Amino acid sequence: MILVTGGAGYIGSHTVKELLRAGYEVVVLDDLSAGHREFVLTPHFVRGDIRDRATLDGVFRRYPITAVMHFAALTSVPESVEDPARYYEVNLLGTWNVLEAMRAHGVKLFVFSSSAAVYGDPQKVPIPEEHPAQPKSPYGRTKRMVEEILADYEKAYAFRYVSLRYFNAAGSDPEGEIGEWHEPERHLIPIVLEVALGKRPYLEIFGTDYETPDGTGVRDYIHVTDLARAHVRALQHLEAGGESRVYNLGIGRGYSVREVMEVCRRVTGRDIPVREGPRRPGDPAVLVADPSRALREMGWQPRFTELAPLVETAWRWMLKKFGSA
Ligand code: UFG
Repeated sequence: MILVTGGAGYIGSHTVKELLRAGYEVVVLDDLSAGHREFVLTPHFVRGDIRDRATLDGVFRRYPITAVMHFAALTSVPESVEDPARYYEVNLLGTWNVLEAMRAHGVKLFVFSSSAAVYGDPQKVPIPEEHPAQPKSPYGRTKRMVEEILADYEKAYAFRYVSLRYFNAAGSDPEGEIGEWHEPERHLIPIVLEVALGKRPYLEIFGTDYETPDGTGVRDYIHVTDLARAHVRALQHLEAGGESRVYNLGIGRGYSVREVMEVCRRVTGRDIPVREGPRRPGDPAVLVADPSRALREMGWQPRFTELAPLVETAWRWMLKKFGSA
């Protein structure tokens, strides 16, 4: 059985769906601080906090866990700047708790949710895994510190891991069963779609003076189901005796904020009012992955390589969530 922490959240719930599809049994541990109970697609669910070691021990005692996928974390870069203590507590100490519970119960395979935020400002794009890791935010530092802990655990404890550095996770389950749902919503595509739906008055573009072709920020948007499939591949790699690895997950192509808006306009057929605002502090101009290592070594390939089909999945989910057209 696979333990998925944060399995009620956005990427976690989509990964649980792919694990079940691949025939795995799954138990989800989630405190529902950001996740949604109805997103838990496995019958095995424990509500609890990774900071609580007794809860973790209870889960490991109750279920025959063979590997852990660890999604439970706080995920906002600006929030981590305002309140770093919380980020170190949940993302660093919480993860350490999970690792120690694994060690106590003899579980040795770990798939970790890392982030492009570990790179900081890119010195070159697309970004390969060997790019220096100089995170600019407490959030990025927590992800990088965990990767360093993992490397030490591997050397000392016959423990193996895959760390997956996500670029911009986007889109929703193509079947519409689950989807992207953050409160508050901070991510570009759902915000643009909420504007299209009339739930927000306009999109504020954070910066139009970047050194990019149209002056707006460029990101690599990877469909959440493609991310989820990569997690299953990573697990299978570890189960087959594969070595510990770090992989970028992106499509290897960037879209600017204006390009994202245009695609959203076309897909929704709605008007999207815009205001041009200042840069958001800490945002790099361009973040695009070089995902070739994951392609080469795990045989993983994203299926959503164009933005329009990705946005269509996000739009379908948004219409369902708000129950209107
Ligand atoms: N943007 C806007 N207006 C908005 C929201 C976003 O112009 O209302 C722009 C941002 O400035 C950026 C792009 O849209 O250029 C994407 O922004 P998101 O907030 O959707 O995503 P980020 O690239 O900021 O964040 C992502 C992940 C984080 C991760 C970070 C790494 O969501 O978890 O990349 O820097 F840490």
